[in-house]
Amino acid sequence: MININEQYDYMRKVRDLHDGGHVFIQTFGCQQNEADSERLAGMAEEMGYELCADSAEADLILINTCAIREHAELKALSITGQFKHLKAQKPGLLIGICGCMVTQEHRKEDIKHKYHSVDFLFGTGMMYRFPEILYETIRNKRRRFYIEETTDLRSASNIVEGLPVKRESPFKAWVSIMYGCDNFCAYCVVPYVRGRERSRRKEDILNEIKGLADYKEITLLGQNVNSYNGGCDFSDLLAEICALDGDFKIRFMTSHPKDATFKLIDTMAANPKIAKQLHLPLQAGSNAVLAAMNRGYTKESYLQFVEYLRVKIPDAALSTDIIVGFPGETDADFAETIEMLEKIRFDSIFSFIYSKRVGTKAAEMDNQIPEDVINKRFAKLLEVQNEISKSKNLAYENTIIKVLCEGKSKTDANKYTGRNEKNRLVHFEADDSYVGKYVDVLIERADTYALHGRRII
Ligand code: 5AD
Ligand code: SF4
Repeated sequence: MININEQYDYMRKVRDLHDGGHVFIQTFGCQQNEADSERLAGMAEEMGYELCADSAEADLILINTCAIREHAELKALSITGQFKHLKAQKPGLLIGICGCMVTQEHRKEDIKHKYHSVDFLFGTGMMYRFPEILYETIRNKRRRFYIEETTDLRSASNIVEGLPVKRESPFKAWVSIMYGCDNFCAYCVVPYVRGRERSRRKEDILNEIKGLADYKEITLLGQNVNSYNGGCDFSDLLAEICALDGDFKIRFMTSHPKDATFKLIDTMAANPKIAKQLHLPLQAGSNAVLAAMNRGYTKESYLQFVEYLRVKIPDAALSTDIIVGFPGETDADFAETIEMLEKIRFDSIFSFIYSKRVGTKAAEMDNQIPEDVINKRFAKLLEVQNEISKSKNLAYENTIIKVLCEGKSKTDANKYTGRNEKNRLVHFEADDSYVGKYVDVLIERADTYALHGRRII
Protein backbone atom coordinates (compact mmCIF):
# COMPACT_ATOMS: atom_id res chain seq x y z
CA MET A 1 0.00 0.00 0.00
CA ILE A 2 1.22 3.52 -0.74
CA ASN A 3 2.13 5.83 2.13
CA ILE A 4 0.38 9.17 1.71
CA ASN A 5 1.69 11.07 4.76
CA GLU A 6 4.00 12.98 2.48
CA GLN A 7 1.02 14.13 0.43
CA TYR A 8 -0.68 15.49 3.55
CA ASP A 9 2.51 17.55 4.11
CA TYR A 10 2.18 18.90 0.58
CA MET A 11 -1.48 19.72 1.20
CA ARG A 12 -0.41 21.87 4.16
CA LYS A 13 2.36 23.46 2.12
CA VAL A 14 -0.01 24.41 -0.72
CA ARG A 15 -2.44 25.87 1.81
CA ASP A 16 0.37 28.09 3.10
CA LEU A 17 1.27 29.25 -0.40
CA HIS A 18 -1.98 31.01 -1.23
CA ASP A 19 -4.88 32.68 0.52
CA GLY A 20 -7.83 30.65 -0.64
CA GLY A 21 -9.44 30.40 -4.03
CA HIS A 22 -11.87 28.36 -6.06
CA VAL A 23 -11.43 25.03 -7.79
CA PHE A 24 -13.55 23.87 -10.70
CA ILE A 25 -13.49 20.16 -11.58
CA GLN A 26 -14.77 18.90 -14.93
CA THR A 27 -15.26 15.13 -15.00
CA PHE A 28 -15.70 12.96 -18.10
CA GLY A 29 -16.43 9.26 -18.27
CA CYS A 30 -17.50 6.56 -15.88
CA GLN A 31 -18.40 6.38 -12.19
CA GLN A 32 -14.81 5.50 -11.32
CA ASN A 33 -13.78 8.88 -12.69
CA GLU A 34 -16.52 10.54 -10.66
CA ALA A 35 -15.24 8.77 -7.58
CA ASP A 36 -11.69 9.91 -8.40
CA SER A 37 -12.91 13.49 -8.82
CA GLU A 38 -14.44 13.33 -5.34
CA ARG A 39 -10.96 12.52 -4.05
CA LEU A 40 -9.43 15.35 -6.08
CA ALA A 41 -12.06 17.66 -4.60
CA GLY A 42 -11.24 16.37 -1.10
CA MET A 43 -7.54 17.07 -1.59
CA ALA A 44 -8.23 20.49 -3.13
CA GLU A 45 -10.41 21.43 -0.17
CA GLU A 46 -7.71 20.29 2.22
CA MET A 47 -5.36 22.62 0.29
CA GLY A 48 -7.61 25.59 0.96
CA TYR A 49 -9.67 25.67 -2.23
CA GLU A 50 -13.43 25.94 -2.31
CA LEU A 51 -15.35 24.00 -4.99
CA CYS A 52 -17.22 26.12 -7.52
CA ALA A 53 -19.70 25.31 -10.26
CA ASP A 54 -18.63 28.01 -12.70
CA SER A 55 -15.27 27.69 -14.44
CA ALA A 56 -15.08 31.48 -14.86
CA GLU A 57 -14.80 31.85 -11.08
CA ALA A 58 -11.97 29.35 -10.71
CA ASP A 59 -8.36 29.88 -9.67
CA LEU A 60 -7.67 26.22 -10.33
CA ILE A 61 -9.30 24.03 -13.00
CA LEU A 62 -8.97 20.24 -13.12
CA ILE A 63 -10.09 18.21 -16.12
CA ASN A 64 -10.51 14.52 -15.33
CA THR A 65 -10.57 12.73 -18.67
CA CYS A 66 -11.85 9.48 -20.19
CA ALA A 67 -10.33 7.37 -22.98
CA ILE A 68 -12.93 4.66 -23.54
CA ARG A 69 -14.01 5.99 -26.94
CA GLU A 70 -12.68 8.66 -29.26
CA HIS A 71 -15.73 10.82 -28.68
CA ALA A 72 -14.91 11.12 -24.96
CA GLU A 73 -11.37 12.18 -25.78
CA LEU A 74 -12.47 14.78 -28.31
CA LYS A 75 -14.85 16.32 -25.78
CA ALA A 76 -12.08 16.62 -23.18
CA LEU A 77 -9.66 18.12 -25.70
CA SER A 78 -12.25 20.59 -26.88
CA ILE A 79 -12.99 21.85 -23.38
CA THR A 80 -9.29 22.03 -22.58
CA GLY A 81 -8.93 24.29 -25.62
CA GLN A 82 -11.81 26.48 -24.45
CA PHE A 83 -10.30 27.03 -21.01
CA LYS A 84 -7.40 28.81 -22.72
CA HIS A 85 -9.62 31.90 -22.97
CA LEU A 86 -10.21 31.94 -19.23
CA LYS A 87 -6.49 31.95 -18.70
CA ALA A 88 -6.13 34.96 -20.98
CA GLN A 89 -8.56 36.84 -18.70
CA LYS A 90 -7.03 35.58 -15.46
CA PRO A 91 -3.30 34.97 -15.86
CA GLY A 92 -2.88 33.39 -12.41
CA LEU A 93 -5.35 30.61 -13.26
CA LEU A 94 -3.86 27.12 -13.04
CA ILE A 95 -5.11 24.33 -15.30
CA GLY A 96 -4.45 20.66 -14.65
CA ILE A 97 -5.51 17.61 -16.62
CA CYS A 98 -5.58 14.03 -15.41
CA GLY A 99 -7.34 10.68 -15.85
CA CYS A 100 -7.41 7.97 -18.49
CA MET A 101 -6.95 9.99 -21.68
CA VAL A 102 -3.72 11.62 -20.56
CA THR A 103 -2.35 8.35 -19.22
CA GLN A 104 -1.59 7.50 -22.84
CA GLU A 105 1.84 8.66 -23.99
CA HIS A 106 0.58 10.08 -27.31
CA ARG A 107 -2.09 12.15 -25.58
CA LYS A 108 0.35 13.39 -22.96
CA GLU A 109 2.63 14.60 -25.74
CA ASP A 110 -0.31 16.24 -27.55
CA ILE A 111 -1.22 18.19 -24.45
CA LYS A 112 2.35 19.17 -23.70
CA HIS A 113 3.02 20.52 -27.16
CA LYS A 114 -0.36 21.79 -28.34
CA TYR A 115 -2.16 22.93 -25.20
CA HIS A 116 0.15 25.50 -23.66
CA SER A 117 -2.42 26.70 -21.17
CA VAL A 118 -2.21 23.37 -19.32
CA ASP A 119 0.13 23.74 -16.34
CA PHE A 120 0.25 20.20 -15.08
CA LEU A 121 -0.80 16.70 -16.02
CA PHE A 122 -0.86 13.44 -14.12
CA GLY A 123 -1.88 9.88 -14.96
CA THR A 124 -4.38 7.68 -13.13
CA GLY A 125 -1.71 5.96 -11.02
CA MET A 126 -0.44 9.28 -9.72
CA MET A 127 -3.69 10.85 -8.65
CA TYR A 128 -2.68 10.69 -5.01
CA ARG A 129 0.33 12.89 -5.84
CA PHE A 130 -1.86 15.78 -6.95
CA PRO A 131 -0.85 17.89 -3.88
CA GLU A 132 2.85 17.42 -4.58
CA ILE A 133 2.45 18.18 -8.30
CA LEU A 134 0.37 21.27 -7.60
CA TYR A 135 2.88 22.48 -5.02
CA GLU A 136 5.78 22.11 -7.41
CA THR A 137 3.89 23.81 -10.22
CA ILE A 138 3.05 26.81 -8.05
CA ARG A 139 6.44 27.07 -6.39
CA ASN A 140 8.67 26.54 -9.36
CA LYS A 141 6.34 28.22 -11.84
CA ARG A 142 7.07 25.41 -14.28
CA ARG A 143 4.80 23.06 -16.17
CA ARG A 144 4.71 19.50 -14.79
CA PHE A 145 3.84 16.40 -16.79
CA TYR A 146 3.81 13.13 -14.92
CA ILE A 147 2.78 9.88 -16.39
CA GLU A 148 6.06 8.02 -16.39
CA GLU A 149 5.32 6.34 -13.10
CA THR A 150 2.26 4.67 -14.51
CA THR A 151 4.57 1.70 -14.86
CA ASP A 152 3.61 1.39 -11.18
CA LEU A 153 0.19 0.46 -12.43
CA ARG A 154 1.59 -2.97 -13.18
CA SER A 155 2.15 -3.47 -9.51
CA ALA A 156 -0.59 -5.00 -7.44
CA SER A 157 0.59 -2.94 -4.48
CA ASN A 158 -0.49 0.32 -6.08
CA ILE A 159 -3.44 0.95 -3.75
CA VAL A 160 -3.96 4.24 -1.98
CA GLU A 161 -5.98 4.50 1.24
CA GLY A 162 -6.79 7.50 3.37
CA LEU A 163 -7.11 10.32 0.85
CA PRO A 164 -9.61 13.00 1.82
CA VAL A 165 -12.89 12.78 -0.06
CA LYS A 166 -15.59 15.32 -0.77
CA ARG A 167 -18.64 13.38 -1.88
CA GLU A 168 -20.88 15.15 -4.34
CA SER A 169 -24.10 13.70 -2.99
CA PRO A 170 -25.15 13.47 0.67
CA PHE A 171 -27.26 10.38 -0.05
CA LYS A 172 -25.58 8.42 -2.89
CA ALA A 173 -21.99 7.26 -2.50
CA TRP A 174 -19.42 5.55 -4.73
CA VAL A 175 -17.09 3.05 -3.09
CA SER A 176 -14.28 1.59 -5.20
CA ILE A 177 -13.56 -1.98 -4.24
CA MET A 178 -10.89 -2.61 -6.84
CA TYR A 179 -8.90 -0.81 -9.50
CA GLY A 180 -7.60 -1.70 -12.94
CA CYS A 181 -8.39 -4.63 -15.17
CA ASP A 182 -6.57 -7.76 -16.35
CA ASN A 183 -9.02 -8.88 -18.98
CA PHE A 184 -7.63 -7.18 -22.05
CA CYS A 185 -10.82 -7.31 -24.08
CA ALA A 186 -9.50 -6.71 -27.58
CA TYR A 187 -11.26 -3.35 -28.06
CA CYS A 188 -10.62 -1.85 -24.63
CA VAL A 189 -8.05 0.67 -23.49
CA VAL A 190 -8.82 0.36 -19.76
CA PRO A 191 -6.09 -2.17 -18.83
CA TYR A 192 -3.53 0.15 -20.42
CA VAL A 193 -4.66 3.32 -18.69
CA ARG A 194 -5.78 1.95 -15.33
CA GLY A 195 -3.24 -0.81 -14.95
CA ARG A 196 -3.40 -4.26 -13.39
CA GLU A 197 -6.35 -5.44 -11.39
CA ARG A 198 -5.90 -4.89 -7.67
CA SER A 199 -8.48 -5.27 -4.91
CA ARG A 200 -8.78 -3.10 -1.83
CA ARG A 201 -8.58 -4.97 1.45
CA LYS A 202 -11.95 -6.07 2.71
CA GLU A 203 -11.39 -4.29 6.06
CA ASP A 204 -10.72 -0.96 4.34
CA ILE A 205 -13.91 -1.26 2.29
CA LEU A 206 -16.02 -2.20 5.32
CA ASN A 207 -14.56 0.70 7.31
CA GLU A 208 -15.36 3.15 4.54
CA ILE A 209 -18.93 1.87 4.35
CA LYS A 210 -19.34 2.04 8.14
CA GLY A 211 -18.82 5.79 7.72
CA LEU A 212 -21.68 5.91 5.18
CA ALA A 213 -24.49 4.58 7.37
CA ASP A 214 -26.68 7.64 6.63
CA TYR A 215 -26.47 7.16 2.89
CA LYS A 216 -29.45 5.78 0.97
CA GLU A 217 -27.46 4.16 -1.82
CA ILE A 218 -23.94 2.83 -2.02
CA THR A 219 -22.55 1.74 -5.37
CA LEU A 220 -19.53 -0.55 -5.33
CA LEU A 221 -17.19 0.14 -8.23
CA GLY A 222 -14.68 -1.95 -10.13
CA GLN A 223 -13.99 -2.85 -13.76
CA ASN A 224 -14.84 -6.45 -12.94
CA VAL A 225 -16.29 -6.62 -9.44
CA ASN A 226 -16.82 -10.38 -9.78
CA SER A 227 -13.11 -11.06 -9.60
CA TYR A 228 -12.70 -9.14 -6.33
CA ASN A 229 -10.16 -10.91 -4.10
CA GLY A 230 -9.21 -8.56 -1.27
CA GLY A 231 -9.78 -11.08 1.51
CA CYS A 232 -12.90 -12.93 0.32
CA ASP A 233 -14.84 -13.30 -2.92
CA PHE A 234 -17.30 -10.71 -4.18
CA SER A 235 -20.45 -12.48 -2.97
CA ASP A 236 -19.06 -12.77 0.55
CA LEU A 237 -18.02 -9.13 0.48
CA LEU A 238 -21.60 -8.19 -0.44
CA ALA A 239 -22.97 -10.32 2.39
CA GLU A 240 -20.60 -8.70 4.90
CA ILE A 241 -21.58 -5.22 3.70
CA CYS A 242 -25.26 -6.11 4.08
CA ALA A 243 -24.61 -7.14 7.68
CA LEU A 244 -23.40 -3.61 8.55
CA ASP A 245 -25.72 -1.15 10.29
CA GLY A 246 -27.51 1.28 8.01
CA ASP A 247 -30.62 1.47 5.91
CA PHE A 248 -28.87 1.63 2.54
CA LYS A 249 -29.29 -0.12 -0.79
CA ILE A 250 -26.24 -1.62 -2.47
CA ARG A 251 -25.59 -1.50 -6.17
CA PHE A 252 -22.45 -2.63 -7.94
CA MET A 253 -20.82 -2.31 -11.31
CA THR A 254 -19.48 -3.67 -13.51
CA SER A 255 -20.04 -7.41 -13.54
CA HIS A 256 -18.21 -9.52 -16.06
CA PRO A 257 -20.19 -12.48 -17.42
CA LYS A 258 -17.14 -14.74 -17.36
CA ASP A 259 -16.71 -14.30 -13.58
CA ALA A 260 -20.30 -13.77 -12.40
CA THR A 261 -21.41 -16.78 -10.37
CA PHE A 262 -24.68 -18.39 -9.35
CA LYS A 263 -23.53 -17.68 -5.80
CA LEU A 264 -23.73 -13.97 -6.64
CA ILE A 265 -27.37 -14.37 -7.63
CA ASP A 266 -28.10 -16.39 -4.47
CA THR A 267 -26.49 -13.60 -2.42
CA MET A 268 -28.60 -10.97 -4.19
CA ALA A 269 -31.73 -13.03 -3.61
CA ALA A 270 -30.97 -13.49 0.10
CA ASN A 271 -30.15 -9.87 0.95
CA PRO A 272 -32.89 -7.23 0.70
CA LYS A 273 -30.24 -4.51 0.95
CA ILE A 274 -28.94 -5.42 -2.51
CA ALA A 275 -30.90 -3.69 -5.28
CA LYS A 276 -32.52 -6.23 -7.57
CA GLN A 277 -30.75 -4.85 -10.56
CA LEU A 278 -27.78 -6.14 -12.50
CA HIS A 279 -25.64 -4.62 -15.23
CA LEU A 280 -24.03 -7.42 -17.21
CA PRO A 281 -22.27 -6.34 -20.41
CA LEU A 282 -22.91 -8.80 -23.24
CA GLN A 283 -21.06 -6.75 -25.91
CA ALA A 284 -22.06 -9.08 -28.77
CA GLY A 285 -24.34 -12.03 -29.45
CA SER A 286 -22.13 -14.12 -31.69
CA ASN A 287 -19.62 -16.56 -30.26
CA ALA A 288 -17.17 -15.75 -33.03
CA VAL A 289 -17.21 -12.05 -32.14
CA LEU A 290 -17.09 -12.78 -28.39
CA ALA A 291 -14.00 -14.93 -28.98
CA ALA A 292 -12.36 -12.24 -31.14
CA MET A 293 -13.14 -9.74 -28.38
CA ASN A 294 -11.43 -12.05 -25.88
CA ARG A 295 -14.47 -11.97 -23.62
CA GLY A 296 -14.08 -15.44 -22.15
CA TYR A 297 -17.73 -16.58 -22.34
CA THR A 298 -20.19 -17.79 -24.97
CA LYS A 299 -23.73 -16.72 -25.67
CA GLU A 300 -24.88 -20.06 -24.24
CA SER A 301 -23.12 -19.51 -20.91
CA TYR A 302 -24.49 -15.95 -20.77
CA LEU A 303 -28.00 -17.25 -21.37
CA GLN A 304 -27.57 -19.87 -18.68
CA PHE A 305 -26.65 -17.18 -16.17
CA VAL A 306 -29.66 -15.05 -17.14
CA GLU A 307 -31.92 -18.08 -16.83
CA TYR A 308 -30.70 -18.70 -13.27
CA LEU A 309 -31.18 -15.02 -12.43
CA ARG A 310 -34.75 -15.09 -13.75
CA VAL A 311 -35.60 -18.23 -11.79
CA LYS A 312 -34.10 -16.96 -8.52
CA ILE A 313 -35.09 -13.28 -8.80
CA PRO A 314 -37.87 -13.13 -11.39
CA ASP A 315 -38.36 -9.37 -11.11
CA ALA A 316 -34.65 -8.43 -11.29
CA ALA A 317 -33.86 -5.69 -13.79
CA LEU A 318 -31.12 -6.52 -16.24
CA SER A 319 -29.15 -4.07 -18.37
CA THR A 320 -26.22 -4.52 -20.72
CA ASP A 321 -23.63 -2.92 -22.99
CA ILE A 322 -23.48 -3.71 -26.70
CA ILE A 323 -20.74 -2.75 -29.15
CA VAL A 324 -21.69 -2.51 -32.81
CA GLY A 325 -19.14 -2.86 -35.59
CA PHE A 326 -16.32 -4.73 -33.89
CA PRO A 327 -13.74 -5.67 -36.59
CA GLY A 328 -14.91 -8.70 -38.56
CA GLU A 329 -18.54 -8.51 -37.36
CA THR A 330 -20.64 -9.94 -40.22
CA ASP A 331 -24.34 -9.38 -40.89
CA ALA A 332 -24.94 -12.88 -39.51
CA ASP A 333 -22.97 -12.06 -36.32
CA PHE A 334 -24.98 -8.89 -35.86
CA ALA A 335 -28.22 -10.81 -36.40
CA GLU A 336 -27.20 -12.97 -33.44
CA THR A 337 -26.84 -9.87 -31.26
CA ILE A 338 -30.37 -8.85 -32.22
CA GLU A 339 -31.55 -12.38 -31.48
CA MET A 340 -30.03 -12.16 -27.99
CA LEU A 341 -31.79 -8.84 -27.33
CA GLU A 342 -35.09 -10.35 -28.40
CA LYS A 343 -34.56 -13.47 -26.33
CA ILE A 344 -33.33 -11.82 -23.14
CA ARG A 345 -35.39 -8.62 -23.33
CA PHE A 346 -33.04 -6.39 -21.33
CA ASP A 347 -34.66 -3.58 -19.39
CA SER A 348 -32.19 -1.20 -20.98
CA ILE A 349 -28.99 -1.27 -22.98
CA PHE A 350 -26.05 1.06 -23.46
CA SER A 351 -25.09 0.79 -27.10
CA PHE A 352 -21.78 1.89 -28.51
CA ILE A 353 -20.28 2.18 -31.94
CA TYR A 354 -16.90 0.45 -31.94
CA SER A 355 -14.12 2.99 -31.52
CA LYS A 356 -10.55 2.12 -32.47
CA ARG A 357 -8.23 2.62 -29.50
CA VAL A 358 -4.48 3.03 -29.85
CA GLY A 359 -2.52 0.08 -28.48
CA THR A 360 -5.40 -2.40 -28.33
CA LYS A 361 -5.45 -5.69 -30.22
CA ALA A 362 -8.57 -4.78 -32.19
CA ALA A 363 -6.88 -1.66 -33.56
CA GLU A 364 -4.47 -3.98 -35.39
CA MET A 365 -7.24 -6.12 -36.92
CA ASP A 366 -7.51 -5.60 -40.65
CA ASN A 367 -11.23 -6.27 -41.09
CA GLN A 368 -12.58 -2.96 -39.76
CA ILE A 369 -16.25 -2.39 -40.64
CA PRO A 370 -17.27 0.51 -42.94
CA GLU A 371 -19.06 3.40 -41.27
CA ASP A 372 -22.29 3.10 -43.31
CA VAL A 373 -22.67 -0.58 -42.35
CA ILE A 374 -22.07 0.26 -38.69
CA ASN A 375 -24.61 3.09 -38.78
CA LYS A 376 -27.28 0.83 -40.26
CA ARG A 377 -26.65 -1.85 -37.64
CA PHE A 378 -26.67 0.73 -34.87
CA ALA A 379 -30.03 2.11 -36.01
CA LYS A 380 -31.47 -1.41 -36.12
CA LEU A 381 -30.16 -2.15 -32.62
CA LEU A 382 -31.83 0.96 -31.22
CA GLU A 383 -35.09 0.24 -33.03
CA VAL A 384 -35.28 -3.27 -31.56
CA GLN A 385 -34.29 -2.24 -28.04
CA ASN A 386 -36.48 0.88 -27.95
CA GLU A 387 -39.49 -1.31 -28.58
CA ILE A 388 -38.47 -3.66 -25.75
CA SER A 389 -37.63 -0.83 -23.31
CA LYS A 390 -40.93 0.85 -24.05
CA SER A 391 -42.99 -2.26 -23.51
CA LYS A 392 -41.12 -2.92 -20.23
CA ASN A 393 -41.79 0.66 -19.13
CA LEU A 394 -45.48 0.48 -20.11
CA ALA A 395 -45.92 -2.34 -17.60
CA TYR A 396 -45.31 0.25 -14.87
CA GLU A 397 -48.32 2.37 -15.85
CA ASN A 398 -50.91 2.64 -13.06
CA THR A 399 -48.57 1.12 -10.48
CA ILE A 400 -47.09 2.83 -7.44
CA ILE A 401 -43.33 2.65 -7.08
CA LYS A 402 -40.85 3.79 -4.45
CA VAL A 403 -38.36 6.28 -5.87
CA LEU A 404 -35.28 7.92 -4.40
CA CYS A 405 -35.64 11.60 -5.33
CA GLU A 406 -32.30 12.73 -6.69
CA GLY A 407 -32.90 16.34 -7.73
CA LYS A 408 -34.28 18.62 -10.42
CA SER A 409 -34.92 17.12 -13.84
CA LYS A 410 -32.39 18.13 -16.48
CA THR A 411 -35.02 18.06 -19.21
CA ASP A 412 -38.10 19.56 -17.53
CA ALA A 413 -37.66 22.59 -15.25
CA ASN A 414 -40.90 21.84 -13.40
CA LYS A 415 -40.03 18.28 -12.53
CA TYR A 416 -37.77 16.32 -10.23
CA THR A 417 -36.22 12.97 -11.08
CA GLY A 418 -35.23 9.86 -9.25
CA ARG A 419 -34.76 6.15 -9.69
CA ASN A 420 -36.47 3.14 -8.26
CA GLU A 421 -34.70 0.05 -6.98
CA LYS A 422 -34.56 -1.28 -10.56
CA ASN A 423 -32.75 1.90 -11.63
CA ARG A 424 -35.67 3.14 -13.77
CA LEU A 425 -35.63 6.89 -14.36
CA VAL A 426 -38.80 8.56 -13.03
CA HIS A 427 -40.03 12.17 -13.48
CA PHE A 428 -42.50 13.68 -11.01
CA GLU A 429 -43.41 16.95 -9.31
CA ALA A 430 -41.69 17.70 -6.02
CA ASP A 431 -39.61 20.37 -4.32
CA ASP A 432 -36.14 20.58 -2.83
CA SER A 433 -37.32 19.19 0.50
CA TYR A 434 -37.79 15.77 -1.16
CA VAL A 435 -34.25 15.51 -2.50
CA GLY A 436 -32.45 12.56 -0.92
CA LYS A 437 -35.71 11.02 0.32
CA TYR A 438 -37.86 8.13 -0.85
CA VAL A 439 -41.21 9.07 -2.37
CA ASP A 440 -44.09 6.95 -3.67
CA VAL A 441 -44.97 7.79 -7.26
CA LEU A 442 -48.07 6.70 -9.17
CA ILE A 443 -46.90 6.09 -12.74
CA GLU A 444 -49.27 7.77 -15.17
CA ARG A 445 -47.26 7.56 -18.39
CA ALA A 446 -44.28 5.64 -19.70
CA ASP A 447 -42.03 6.18 -22.69
CA THR A 448 -38.88 4.49 -24.00
CA TYR A 449 -36.46 6.16 -21.63
CA ALA A 450 -38.44 7.13 -18.54
CA LEU A 451 -41.56 6.89 -16.39
CA HIS A 452 -43.70 9.92 -15.58
CA GLY A 453 -45.93 10.06 -12.57
CA ARG A 454 -47.54 11.79 -9.62
CA ARG A 455 -46.08 11.82 -6.15
CA ILE A 456 -48.60 10.41 -3.72
CA ILE A 457 -46.71 10.98 -0.45
N1 5AD B 1 -15.45 1.06 -28.57
C1 5AD B 1 -16.77 1.05 -28.27
N2 5AD B 1 -17.25 0.77 -27.05
C2 5AD B 1 -16.34 0.44 -26.10
N3 5AD B 1 -16.50 0.09 -24.81
C3 5AD B 1 -15.29 -0.14 -24.27
N4 5AD B 1 -14.33 0.05 -25.19
C4 5AD B 1 -14.96 0.41 -26.35
C5 5AD B 1 -14.52 0.73 -27.65
N5 5AD B 1 -13.24 0.72 -27.97
C6 5AD B 1 -17.81 -0.05 -24.18
C7 5AD B 1 -18.04 -1.47 -23.69
C8 5AD B 1 -17.92 -1.33 -22.21
C9 5AD B 1 -18.43 0.07 -21.98
C10 5AD B 1 -18.06 0.69 -20.69
O1 5AD B 1 -17.87 0.79 -23.05
O2 5AD B 1 -19.35 -1.84 -24.05
O3 5AD B 1 -18.69 -2.29 -21.50
FE1 SF4 C 1 -12.33 -3.16 -20.66
FE2 SF4 C 1 -12.93 -5.77 -20.75
FE3 SF4 C 1 -11.66 -4.75 -18.62
FE4 SF4 C 1 -14.23 -4.15 -19.04
S1 SF4 C 1 -13.41 -6.20 -18.61
S2 SF4 C 1 -12.58 -2.71 -18.49
S3 SF4 C 1 -14.34 -4.05 -21.28
S4 SF4 C 1 -10.84 -4.86 -20.69
